[in-house]
Amino acid sequence: MSFVDRLLLQMTLEEKIGQLNLVSYGKVDTGTVRSVGVAKKIAAAQAGGLFGTHDPAEARAMQTIAVEQTRLGIPLLFGLDVIHGHKTIFPIPLALSCSWNLELIRKTARIAAIEATAEGVNWAFSPMVDIARDPRWGRVSEGAGEDTYLGSQVARAMVEGLQGDDLKRNDTMMACVKHLGLYGAVEAGREYNSVDMSPVRMLEDYLPPYKAALDAGAGSVMTAFNDINGVPATAHPEILNDLLRKRWSFDGLVVTDYTAINEMVEHGMGDLHDVSAVALNAGVDMDMVGEGFLETLQQSLDAGHISETQIDMACRRILLAKEKLGLFDDPYLYFSDERAKSRILTPEHRAFARETIAESCVLLKNDGNILPLDRSAKIALVGPLADDTLNMPGNWSIAADSDDCISIRQGMRNVAGPDARIAYARGSNITDDPRVIAAVNYRIERVVNDPRPAVDMIDEALRIAKDADVVVAVVGEAQEMSGECASRADIGIPEEQRDLLQALRKTGKPLVLVTISGRPLTLAWEHENADAILHMWFAGTEAGNGVADVLFGGANPSGKLTMTFPRHVGQVPIYYNHRRTGRPLSPGLEFEKFKSCYIDVPNTPQYPFGHGLSYTSFEYGPVELDKTSLNGERDVLHARATVTNTGAKTGKEIVQLYLTDPVASMTRPVKVLRGFEKIELAPGQSQQVGFTITVGDLKFYDLSGAEIWESGEFIVHIGASSVSTQSASVIWAKDASEERAVAAKSASGAA
Ligand code: BGC
Repeated sequence: MSFVDRLLLQMTLEEKIGQLNLVSYGKVDTGTVRSVGVAKKIAAAQAGGLFGTHDPAEARAMQTIAVEQTRLGIPLLFGLDVIHGHKTIFPIPLALSCSWNLELIRKTARIAAIEATAEGVNWAFSPMVDIARDPRWGRVSEGAGEDTYLGSQVARAMVEGLQGDDLKRNDTMMACVKHLGLYGAVEAGREYNSVDMSPVRMLEDYLPPYKAALDAGAGSVMTAFNDINGVPATAHPEILNDLLRKRWSFDGLVVTDYTAINEMVEHGMGDLHDVSAVALNAGVDMDMVGEGFLETLQQSLDAGHISETQIDMACRRILLAKEKLGLFDDPYLYFSDERAKSRILTPEHRAFARETIAESCVLLKNDGNILPLDRSAKIALVGPLADDTLNMPGNWSIAADSDDCISIRQGMRNVAGPDARIAYARGSNITDDPRVIAAVNYRIERVVNDPRPAVDMIDEALRIAKDADVVVAVVGEAQEMSGECASRADIGIPEEQRDLLQALRKTGKPLVLVTISGRPLTLAWEHENADAILHMWFAGTEAGNGVADVLFGGANPSGKLTMTFPRHVGQVPIYYNHRRTGRPLSPGLEFEKFKSCYIDVPNTPQYPFGHGLSYTSFEYGPVELDKTSLNGERDVLHARATVTNTGAKTGKEIVQLYLTDPVASMTRPVKVLRGFEKIELAPGQSQQVGFTITVGDLKFYDLSGAEIWESGEFIVHIGASSVSTQSASVIWAKDASEERAVAAKSASGAA
């Protein structure tokens, strides 16, 4: 009998139910309910884990209570939202995904784990792998954007980074994939809203990243707040039991989101007894903060609504997680004063954080190669985020200290040197809207407003602008304008900052924008009026240095968008791999009567998925395929294109492979990403980039939920973005006779 099974045999029912309870230390409460009497509950064996602290002394004291004061001495799990770094903060996850550099992403997660575990945390509520196509939703900042293929790769890299190859090591931690499921599809982008989705879309677009994270070995899963087709995700038998437990064979730990069981009462699913029982029966193991399990499971058992086996199974999975982490061997494994001193915010971690910025920021526009800046130019640096450290980390940076962050102003001075001529004026507040300020300053005051009248601030900015060769305006969102419960209906640059930009434009001076946000923004005016736009997202501890490296050309930007930037918020949800309509707009047109379009804005985005410029230029040769026709499941197709750096600087390019299935038994997306490679080329250098395409890349789900593929012609696109590709087509059939049939149809122009 295994250690855990023996332990289970010794446990009373109360002790088992106690393990299913996750309490919080209340420092990162994300709801109105808080855990109370935490130490007492731990001493009474009424908690299986604690989250929300990264204070090793505090956590150690709690572990000591669990180990020394309870009958069986079962150690606690220590959870925390370790999302994009711990003390060394990296760019937000959406930004990191724009690097398309999986090794880099893996390393950020590795460093995050090294730092967080040194402070006693052994369970990361990360990665968030929710596919998101609606930038109004504030939590798009926490994920990898709109694409399933890329999102799945990023999910895997994150899990590998956090968990390493041995969970028992003291510098690796258990990942928690969240939020199962489909949280990224909340209606109208409004936080905690409903999700109603076809099974095909779920299977094809939204579920694969969760699966990819689990295939990479993620030890736990967090349920979502939203309902799915009328059933809350936290008690969704089809998602949790049928899909997660049975189809995906997941035997790890399932934890709810913050009070998600209790919230089912508000969803209208019954009282706390009812909802706790359905959650347990659906496959939930651990109840975050709400204590529905603690308060009701005994009675539900007595009433026959749940079984003891169900409780045993949940408890067993929690104990197994502790065993996997090595906590039964040493409950204090993750506490180390020595590691806390030597492995947190090290120069190496900071240097790496700085490097990640050029890879994840996106050069949206650069007319006349105005960037990089000349170090000897007279620069007017303006904008409410130019001299800011409070907002640099980005949301979910619990352990960050903004004093460790480098502002852009400081970074520019560091990079350009003491002789640089950089004049600074704030120019405007981030926002003067009291409603928004109240919403974003709820915990820490990050929108700290200058009391001067707006015109005075603008005048000051204009004075330095008039005297400058170039204006650099750093504008965008405050940290908490994206993230949890930070949906925005207007996703533009806030009005006060736009007023500043309009005034600056009138000076006629070259205008460079550095834009900061946790979501795609609508930048139509900015695109029309600025000479260059460098979108830096929230770039973390080294924000200022990393951005200054790019602004002055010490580093070449190489990020490409993983979420479409709309022209207008009315276009959302907007994403590149939409399905084909029966009345598509003719190419090049913005409006045609009785075609799928708007009368007031074009269909196309401001900046498409995959877009991102560089200080050099790349040219793509034609797509070459090694075959024109294939048959059978085992055949593979090799596609390649030669990419040449035609500019004057060394640069990195993200070469993207998309496929189109032009004729199928279901409507298929216009194109889907199926591969990418980030390469670096010196000026004049060429490289052949090759991709291997298998039948798996052609597959899709039919109405019965089966994964299928169909014989036909397929188009292979290779290029620099979702809208800038070259293509070649190929026939791929199930067997030789279907191959002949497709070829004949194709020859007659009907395929
Ligand atoms: C969030 C989760 C997070 C949890 C614990 C919730 O409000 O939705 O993503 O892990 O709080 O902090």
